[in-house]
Amino acid sequence: MDYLSEILKIIEGATKANASMANNYAGLLADKLEQSGELKQAKLIRERLLRAPQALAGAQKAGGGVSIGSLPIDIDSRLNTVDVSYPKLEKSELYLPAGINTRVDEFITNVQRFDEFVKVDAALPSRLLIYGKPGTGKTMLSRYIASRLEYPLLTVRCDTLISSLLGQTSKNLRQVFDYVNQRPCVLFLDEFDALAGARGNERDIGELQRVVISLLQNIDAASDNTIIIASTNHEQLLDPAIWRRFSFRIPMPLPDQHQRELIWKNRLKNMLSNELDLCDLAKKSEGLSGAIIEQVSLDARRDAVIAGDKKIINHKLYRRLYLAQSLIDGVNLHTYEDEICWLRSKDKKIFSIRVLAELYGLSARVISNVLKESGSNEQKGHTG
Ligand SMILES: Nc1ncnc2c1ncn2[C@@H]1O[C@H](COP(=O)(O)OP(=O)(O)O)[C@@H](O)[C@H]1O
Ligand SMILES: [Mg+2]
Repeated sequence: MDYLSEILKIIEGATKANASMANNYAGLLADKLEQSGELKQAKLIRERLLRAPQALAGAQKAGGGVSIGSLPIDIDSRLNTVDVSYPKLEKSELYLPAGINTRVDEFITNVQRFDEFVKVDAALPSRLLIYGKPGTGKTMLSRYIASRLEYPLLTVRCDTLISSLLGQTSKNLRQVFDYVNQRPCVLFLDEFDALAGARGNERDIGELQRVVISLLQNIDAASDNTIIIASTNHEQLLDPAIWRRFSFRIPMPLPDQHQRELIWKNRLKNMLSNELDLCDLAKKSEGLSGAIIEQVSLDARRDAVIAGDKKIINHKLYRRLYLAQSLIDGVNLHTYEDEICWLRSKDKKIFSIRVLAELYGLSARVISNVLKESGSNEQKGHTG
């Protein structure tokens, strides 16, 4: 039977007297019928929906026609535990290795053709775990997936879900899953280790274990086509039982040489100067995440605006790059002298005495003295 999963949801909504759930999934069913050319049937459903009580029709949101209703909140902090967005993201904004792109497509196909796979007993639950270092595009990938599926993205910041009130965390979780169950959407559990890591902080271990158990129960109770994406920087903290619940797993790598070139080009935009050697820039930014490349690009573009430059001057960009690098390496550059020596130690060719003098508004003589005094002789390089 086609569209079985939508029909089951509509029945569930009706039997639970949950009009908004029935309404949302009837809308989705009409969308799917339209897409497959069954215009008459879709029209019949839409007419029924229009005749639904006024209050319900009023709850229809512009984006996707999904009723959002009132968001669940944590009663202790009064913060929303769920945030709703309708991402629009092009594939061309997210640079990933081909192997990862294939896995992303596989996940999307599993969601889109779920019913077909169910028929031949080959469907996997639509659960994806994205893990990797900070700034590698995990949040961006979940936005991209929601955008491809044209579903609202319901983001849960797992740390706000953890309530200071004992026992409230499990209630918060229950609320989130109840809420998500009422509409076609992507549930995104961001900073997932905050919830799913059974160890690792000073809180009562017993309570955290109860949270993990309640998380497992909620995931198991959700239907297999409820789309759940979780993201974490600390996959080693995840409880193995949680790990097993995710049938799709994507490790996010740091960008390689080619992807770094593309990210630089994309983020420097029209301020990119013709003289810039992107290949060299990408080589020298090895090990940096996409988020840091984006940050450095923004810094460099702002510098250019302030200086009244139409294009970004190469050595100003490299200066921003190496200043970002110093933060990552934990090197403290408190004074201009520190900066000058650091830049020189990083790249003698780009940071010639003349360029440094120009960058810091000092004479070549002063620069030479700074370098000499710091003991950063040209062979050794700066060690501070
Ligand atoms: N592979 C990538 N391709 C393009 N941009 C990226 C990539 N990785 C990171 N970025 C940039 O870094 C920013 C932050 O990424 P984000 O998704 O928040 O990382 P994470 O969730 O892994 O910490 C993004 O908005 C994006 O501009
Ligand atoms: Mg993130």
